[in-house]
Amino acid sequence: MRTRRLVGGLLLIAAVAVTLPAHGQGGGKKFGIECDIIYVPTEQEVVEKMLDMAKVKKKDVVYDLGCGDGRIVATAAKKFGAKGVGVDIDPDRIKDSKKTVKDQGVGKLVEIREGDALKVKDLDKATVIMLYMLPPFMEKLEEQAKNLKPGTRIVAHDFPFPNWKADVTVKFRGPARTHDLYMWTVPERKVEEKK
Ligand SMILES: C[S@@+](CC[C@H](N)C(=O)[O-])C[C@H]1O[C@@H](n2cnc3c(N)ncnc32)[C@H](O)[C@@H]1O
Repeated sequence: MRTRRLVGGLLLIAAVAVTLPAHGQGGGKKFGIECDIIYVPTEQEVVEKMLDMAKVKKKDVVYDLGCGDGRIVATAAKKFGAKGVGVDIDPDRIKDSKKTVKDQGVGKLVEIREGDALKVKDLDKATVIMLYMLPPFMEKLEEQAKNLKPGTRIVAHDFPFPNWKADVTVKFRGPARTHDLYMWTVPERKVEEKK
């Protein structure tokens, strides 16, 4: 498992190495933040599996933090009628996402926002969160994620939260490789934690 995660991580890191020069960025910062994650799309078969794992329904509000081309939120809207919010730091990805939303005809259900996914103010509105981000991002998000609304489902592709054991782990054979998928359900807080 560690080897596959390592391979997935290396693929993302390799993509960073190839893509940053194309963006004219030599350093470790992009869009004013530390950039350790760039765009590697989740294959559509894996997108569908992630939505199935979260048992997405019409009443859900699905956030994709680092939404890339917006297919995750667009698919949740098209297939299940769920609302969606896609957040990405890269203006090119925002353009891609808006195009996906338009092409899929789900503009009434899906909002695409440009910004830092670690600074989303209304994340407590999410009932489902989708992630395909590298370990440093997962580590920064972990504490906030644990304190979201009880019952919120979080599904991550390839990279889990470092200190929060997933409730469900799945190995999913995609067209090109096997993917590690993780799901957490935010637990009810104990009475003393609520005070
Ligand atoms: C590996 S891609 C995943 C894309 C999409 N979620 C998917 O699974 O197909 C990661 C995305 O996160 C975006 N990203 C990286 N850091 C970010 C940040 N701090 N805030 C928002 N988006 C970010 C990148 O621009 C990229 O589109």
